Amino acid sequence: MTRYEELCLDLPKNPKTWLVTGAAGFIGSNLLETLLKLDQRVIGLDNFATGYQRNLDEVMGLVTPDQWARFTFIEGDIRNLDDCRRACERVDYVLHQAALGSVPRSLNDPITSNATNIDGFLNMLVAARDAMVASFTYAASSSTYGDHPGLPKVEDVIGRPLSPYAITKYVNELYAEVFSRSYGFSTIGLRYFNVFGKRQDPNGAYAAVIPKWTAAMIAGENVFINGDGETSRDFCFVDNAVQANLLAAAATAECARNQVYNVAVGGRTTLNQLFHALRQVLGEQGVVYDRAPVYNDFRSGDVRHSQANIEKAGTLLGYRPTSDIRAGIVAFIPWCIKVYS
Ligand SMILES: NC(=O)c1ccc[n+]([C@@H]2O[C@H](COP(=O)([O-])OP(=O)(O)OC[C@H]3O[C@@H](n4cnc5c(N)ncnc54)[C@H](O)[C@@H]3O)[C@@H](O)[C@H]2O)c1
Repeated sequence: MTRYEELCLDLPKNPKTWLVTGAAGFIGSNLLETLLKLDQRVIGLDNFATGYQRNLDEVMGLVTPDQWARFTFIEGDIRNLDDCRRACERVDYVLHQAALGSVPRSLNDPITSNATNIDGFLNMLVAARDAMVASFTYAASSSTYGDHPGLPKVEDVIGRPLSPYAITKYVNELYAEVFSRSYGFSTIGLRYFNVFGKRQDPNGAYAAVIPKWTAAMIAGENVFINGDGETSRDFCFVDNAVQANLLAAAATAECARNQVYNVAVGGRTTLNQLFHALRQVLGEQGVVYDRAPVYNDFRSGDVRHSQANIEKAGTLLGYRPTSDIRAGIVAFIPWCIKVYS
């Protein structure tokens, strides 16, 4: 049995109170769903900047009324310290997901990304430290590898940031380290690599590639590829990210705390390969898409190649991704067909 399977058996017998910031967003709502299904008490904090009430409603429909009754939602802003303090009251484990994602968004409006991702992060650290929570796990990012060309990425070798977003996520890690040194407040950062799955927003200028392309294919619209399509990513199904969060929150070994971990699968898929995989799986599920992709210019701020070494999370947290990109797409597409059609 894996450590995650053991944890999923243990948690319902020993329920905890979890704070999920960004609970109305993509990863946050997937964390919420899993935690409620494990009979945990969950507090959600979100200001709906990029999250949706419909995500919370969908989770409500997937859990029992008793499980849903264990959820408390606070509409609030992590840029407001009082909101953070209120959310942290009587919390055991914090899973801090709230932030403004997207490299292009941060290039267009660095001030708002900075305020949310750095000031908001610092507020959450202070509030969680003062509330003496048992653990604080936060969403870091593979963008911290910046311009370092080495592959696969190992946690302690990073380059220079390529975007304001990347700076904010790196500053999170620096603050987390200083809070450990200065206040003995330990944290775990999870560097997500292109997470995808249900409830990820396919709309708008800042949408991630998998939901955006899938929605376009279902609607019979053009799919646009930035650059030559040979840009590559380590796409990570959201169930793997959920697993990493729960393992990190529950990690008690001293050597596992105050660390950052890659959260991915360890694979590498080019955008051209992704296009064909999505088209194939959609076809297998009855949606025929016969247009060729349209190639645009490269997008500034984007890293050319990305692939994670996931040994550290495997060794210290017991992380074992259960879905590779193909399994993730196969699991994700039926949801897309239902929701986007
Ligand atoms: N999805 C990915 O591939 C990926 C990769 C690397 C890192 N991350 C990080 O993971 C986290 C979750 O990302 P996601 O993909 O679920 O994005 P998302 O936009 O779906 O979720 C973010 C949530 O945070 C909320 N939020 C934003 N600003 C807030 C504020 N000031 N106060 C309270 N709530 C606020 C949003 O409303 C939203 O619900 C983010 O920290 C993101 O930077 C995501």
